Amino acid sequence: MPLVIDNPSPETCSLPQAIEALAEQGFDPDDPASLAAAACWLRRLANNREFLGDLLVERLAGNGGEDIASAYGPQAIILSRPRAGRANSAFLRAAIWPSPRDHVFRTSGAASFVYGAPHDHNFDFLTVGYCGPGYASDYYEYDYAAVAGYPGEDASLRFVGRSVLSPGKLMLYRRHLDVHNQLPPTSLSVSLNVMRVDPAQGWFDQYGFDLERGTVARWLNPLAGEAFLRVAVASGAASARDYAEWVGARHPSERMRLASFEARADMLDDPAEADALWRAAELSGSRMVAGAARARRAVL
Ligand SMILES: [Fe+2]
Repeated sequence: MPLVIDNPSPETCSLPQAIEALAEQGFDPDDPASLAAAACWLRRLANNREFLGDLLVERLAGNGGEDIASAYGPQAIILSRPRAGRANSAFLRAAIWPSPRDHVFRTSGAASFVYGAPHDHNFDFLTVGYCGPGYASDYYEYDYAAVAGYPGEDASLRFVGRSVLSPGKLMLYRRHLDVHNQLPPTSLSVSLNVMRVDPAQGWFDQYGFDLERGTVARWLNPLAGEAFLRVAVASGAASARDYAEWVGARHPSERMRLASFEARADMLDDPAEADALWRAAELSGSRMVAGAARARRAVL
């Protein structure tokens, strides 16, 4: 279960004050003092009942929209940007949680808002219920280090309880540990987040899970390099084939190594050749690649 941070305080702050403080102090969830300071600023901002409505009205009126660009789609409003080049960088966002009564929920469907899509996170973040009753989650925990990370692998998820992100409740979601399956709120809700930005996080996987089987279902963090490698190999260029062989044998990212085997296997029409390639993948020294290779060979 994400850590509930009990920091009641009547103090409030403006959005610029919260942005400035976070930019100044950063957010290192592994440092108790930094965690407490970031949680304190999030509490103060959540106590400000005006800022979000004011900001949205400004935006609707066509003023100052570029400061709240929504890179995460319509569900998230980015309130600040991480300060480039700074260690322990973080940004603020508001997340919107439609209920089944909302038009956008009926037209786009629950999956568009990650309801019923159990997942972990490859980053730490603080969250606080800002308005509305709040989404519910069934929470699980698992041992990231014990999981190789291929689809179909048993993740040994441990159910730890259901809870609602009610107004004012402030929690720390811990990277690679807290898993949740979200359920829509009974009416439109908003949460505020402090999102940690770690340049290395893209190399650590975020998983979707299959709760019925208790397994890793898929990767949620896309790697642009995977797609580029597959396209390069599919182009038939000899340089791409040579590079893919090197990636499959030596790339530090297991995801890239697996992508290399997948790209090369896609080019093979002969099942025996494909089986030989996946056999090599099985023996490549990576538990993740070997697990995925076993599944491919079973299909072949
Ligand atoms: Fe989540």
